[in-house]
Amino acid sequence: MAKLNFGGSEESVVTREEFPLSKAQEILKNETVAVIGYGVQGPGQALNQKDNGINVIVGQRKDSKSWDKAVKDGFVPGETLFEIEEALQKGTIICYLLSDAAQIALWPTVKKHLTKGKALYFSHGFGITFNEQTGIIPPADVDVFLVAPKGSGTSLRRMFLQGRGLNSSYAIFQDATGNAFDRVIALGIAVGSGYLFETNFKKEVFSDLTGERGTLMGAIQGIFAAQYQVLRDKGHSPSESFNETVEELTQSLMPLVAENGMDWMYANCSTTAQRGALDWWKKFRDATSPVFKELYESVATGKESQRSIDLNSQPDYRVKLEAELAELRESEMWQAGKTVRSLRPENQKAPAAAPVESSTKNVFREQTEKTESVG
Ligand SMILES: NC(=O)c1ccc[n+]([C@@H]2O[C@H](COP(=O)([O-])OP(=O)(O)OC[C@H]3O[C@@H](n4cnc5c(N)ncnc54)[C@H](OP(=O)(O)O)[C@@H]3O)[C@@H](O)[C@H]2O)c1
Repeated sequence: MAKLNFGGSEESVVTREEFPLSKAQEILKNETVAVIGYGVQGPGQALNQKDNGINVIVGQRKDSKSWDKAVKDGFVPGETLFEIEEALQKGTIICYLLSDAAQIALWPTVKKHLTKGKALYFSHGFGITFNEQTGIIPPADVDVFLVAPKGSGTSLRRMFLQGRGLNSSYAIFQDATGNAFDRVIALGIAVGSGYLFETNFKKEVFSDLTGERGTLMGAIQGIFAAQYQVLRDKGHSPSESFNETVEELTQSLMPLVAENGMDWMYANCSTTAQRGALDWWKKFRDATSPVFKELYESVATGKESQRSIDLNSQPDYRVKLEAELAELRESEMWQAGKTVRSLRPENQKAPAAAPVESSTKNVFREQTEKTESVG
């Protein structure tokens, strides 16, 4: 395992150079990897493993769009695609990729099929870490580990097809066979990880829940909404407010940050922008730091996991989710964004772009009127 220096701290990582696919194939040659669930991670991980020559089957409930998708993706009913329980029985490594709420509901069935020497694989530390809430307590004679790709299953697949790899974390919770390390790293390579860094179940889930509620999704939307509203309140148009809040960030600046870091992006902006960013970033850090501390506490005390379990297990959860997403989608900011996206030159080449102009005007007018009447 390579030791690398991350900003002054030494950490262990596993790369494809030291752990090539041929080694992963050798380790997994006698295993049947059962990917349970064909939602978002399921397709990415199952297809990448299949293309990497691993003996992979899918377990998915029938009469579902996900079943149809698996068939469309080349999994054959009765050969490589089964009802969940049949796949659980056939698999020697169970990749438990149902939604976190469904993992709780299906746990008694899964547990029944975890016979001695099998492995239980997760892509999140949730079920095990919060086991008092989830009831997921595996038998002692199976390996339990995780590989958590740091991105969506769609990106995992896309990057694999481009010959690239998403970075993933890995952790071993239980090594019953003595082979847990080889098994988990082989799976990490087989699902298409670029490199793997070590963590444990608790750290994986604490950082993941904090990140998605924080800068990755929750905080970023909150900051966008706050800045957009200030600009609108001060008389800026929706298009100007959206461009200065979101579009420039996603289209121009973040790709530069992704390429070479924040300092490099700053260095490649105007001196006026640089000065302002350098003067203001610490104020934003200090203003938001108490919220991030509150968030971490909420994660660490199990409040966030309990809320997620309670709300996501409700039968009408999708209906309520759709209402909340509609609120975002129909907000003036994201309606403005829809129009801004349609005006990108690459989107205008499409034949369907012709009627956009009139709908653009309508969207801005409708949204402006709506905001004004609310205000
Ligand atoms: N989303 C990501 O990109 C991502 C990234 C990193 C890690 N992870 C982790 O990967 C795991 C899988 O996440 P995901 O986002 O792929 O999940 P998801 O898309 O929400 O998974 C849905 C899967 O669960 C099945 N399912 C839901 N309720 C069920 C029930 N009551 N009985 C049987 N099957 C049920 C769905 O079948 P139907 O289609 O039939 O409902 C589908 O196969 C989670 O632990 C997650 O935290 C996800």
